[in-house]
Amino acid sequence: MTAGHLQIVVCAAGPAPDVTTLINTAHQRSWTTAVTATPHATSFIDIPAIEELTGAPVRSDYRTSPGVRRSLPADALVIAPATYNSINKIALGLADNYAMTTIAELIGRHVPTVIVPFVNTALATRHPYRRAVTSLRDEGVHILLGPDHDWEPHPPGTGNDRRLAFPWTTAFEIAARHAA
Ligand SMILES: Cc1cc2nc3c(=O)[nH]c(=O)nc-3n(C[C@H](O)[C@H](O)[C@H](O)COP(=O)(O)O)c2cc1C
Repeated sequence: MTAGHLQIVVCAAGPAPDVTTLINTAHQRSWTTAVTATPHATSFIDIPAIEELTGAPVRSDYRTSPGVRRSLPADALVIAPATYNSINKIALGLADNYAMTTIAELIGRHVPTVIVPFVNTALATRHPYRRAVTSLRDEGVHILLGPDHDWEPHPPGTGNDRRLAFPWTTAFEIAARHAA
């Protein structure tokens, strides 16, 4: 008996290799997990280690091998770390890769969705990004960003220091709360 199934989408930003923290947190709370990666994120993560941990293939494209089971229906979606690029694309509804298509559909199905940006201050000040955050919040997507969440953009060049503070556990807790 599982508490729920968490779909995780990883984008190509510094904290991506630490997604195992989110997976372990979810498993400790009796959730099952599966990871989808954007095409660029596949080189940031240890795919065999993640597949061993989740028991599910890491998906990054539309191809399916014989015998690969289809994804479980998701009770919640966490997109983390979420890049500037992907956040802008998600807000526009773009579906130009498997991860973006999955996200577009899960948001459309009203699956509780949490986005945790990992974006520096130079990018975060751009109007397209600010519009994207507002638009996604209007659509009911939870964006872990701002003083309420104690999570803010970091100055350019300080990503390595911020990586350790990435709020994996908070992301899971928000997703689980809204899935309940
Ligand atoms: C080593 C490395 C670190 C990066 N870190 C970030 C980051 O922290 N945030 C971000 O928005 N983009 C970052 N980028 C740029 C993204 O990887 C790039 O915009 C890419 O197109 C994003 O693809 P995706 O959104 O499909 O995952 C980084 C790139 C590299 C090579």
